Amino acid sequence: MGQLGQRVVVIGQGYVGLPLAMRAVEVGYHVTGYDTSEDRIKHLNAGESYVEDIASATLVAALDTRRYQASSEAQCCSGFDVAVITVPTPLKEGIPDLSYIEAAADTLALYLRPGATVILESTTYPGTTEELVGAMLEEGSGLVVGVDFHLGYSPERIDPGNPTHNLVNTPKVVSGVSDASLAAVKGFYDSIVEQTVPVSGTREAELVKLLENTFRHVNIALVNELAMFAADLGVDVWEAIDAASTKPFGFMRFTPGPGVGGHCLPIDPSYLSWRVRRLLGQSFRFVELANDINDHMPDYVVQRLVMALNRRRQAMNGSRILLLGLAYKRNTSDARESPGQVVADRLLSLGAEVRAADPHVVEAHVDRRVVRVEASAEELSSADAVVLLADHDEFDLDLVTTHARCVLDTRHRVPPGAQVEYL
Ligand SMILES: NC(=O)c1ccc[n+]([C@@H]2O[C@H](COP(=O)([O-])OP(=O)(O)OC[C@H]3O[C@@H](n4cnc5c(N)ncnc54)[C@H](O)[C@@H]3O)[C@@H](O)[C@H]2O)c1
Repeated sequence: MGQLGQRVVVIGQGYVGLPLAMRAVEVGYHVTGYDTSEDRIKHLNAGESYVEDIASATLVAALDTRRYQASSEAQCCSGFDVAVITVPTPLKEGIPDLSYIEAAADTLALYLRPGATVILESTTYPGTTEELVGAMLEEGSGLVVGVDFHLGYSPERIDPGNPTHNLVNTPKVVSGVSDASLAAVKGFYDSIVEQTVPVSGTREAELVKLLENTFRHVNIALVNELAMFAADLGVDVWEAIDAASTKPFGFMRFTPGPGVGGHCLPIDPSYLSWRVRRLLGQSFRFVELANDINDHMPDYVVQRLVMALNRRRQAMNGSRILLLGLAYKRNTSDARESPGQVVADRLLSLGAEVRAADPHVVEAHVDRRVVRVEASAEELSSADAVVLLADHDEFDLDLVTTHARCVLDTRHRVPPGAQVEYL
């Protein structure tokens, strides 16, 4: 396996699937990017990337090799040697929604041939690859998993906007439903990334991703709760975190913020807690507590803002609030599940006039009542309060201290000033 010249199909051309498809082209595979969104396919075939980590020039270069094609026709999957599923795994009314994985498995079953390999990358609870994808592929194709075709799971660790760690230099955990499947999956990724990390089964690999994200979720909740107490105690939590971070062992730095967002953190731990409750009848208390604290953070930001205005004898109702950054994290355009959107909603419902500057997030993803502006000196000085939510590199934070009348900085990045307070 891992032989270049083979046909690779990547199901889903989003934040995870597109970088994988581009890398597969780069190392010599014939790659098809299949996506049910016709709009996305149109952009891809026009050489326009909508994923920030992939430059449009990279996409154009891939198209020019004639070894990459993007299509919304299921037929484009026919004749694949390796298929990788990178479709969304959201929550629907708090419950894992595996319908996208099911649809992908249905499609692949139609084109599955003996000797082919199917790999699931979407984040999901332990058991999905074997119990759901394996069973659907067998039923739809009449082939036997682990005998006629290979099946495995490999969690994605992509960190959008991270300039240091990318798909290629981040070790990739790989697994298979049998030794032969593991060898096939490992062989494929050995040609894609610098280092693969085999584990003994697909359930362990599925748990790896949930463990990594639950670890982050819980530790962010810990510093968020600490930040709320420290503010009341009059202690500088940021200074304490910086000093604690000098310990070379046994401590890992996490910082407070306006809440968690994106496709991973607020959602993945709930996949695990749902599975634990479903199979064991028990609650995963750490996850529930972390959800509770992190979900509360946007409200806490609003509360701090109300208090800051109150000290200036101003009401939130009628005040102009300028939000800096609507994405869930710095230097990304992803506003899915973003705490910034929740903060904007709460402020609007309190009667504030909400404006927002975010050079990354496109208009369509933001509430229409939020007026989109640039973080100019004029906008900063005409706002009653400015809130830094996502510290994109484009923001001139010195300008914020110079011009803003009242600042709440949830990221501890704005230079100090009498009117600047930190979360
Ligand atoms: N974004 C991240 O940083 C990140 C990191 C690690 C893991 N993940 C996980 O990877 C998976 C994909 O996430 P994403 O951020 O790339 O999502 P995304 O929404 O950016 O992309 C998914 C794409 O799949 C397409 N799609 C949906 N159903 C389809 C189907 N049946 N056939 C073909 N295409 C289909 C959608 O149109 C969309 O373009 C999720 O499970 C997510 O939890 C995401």
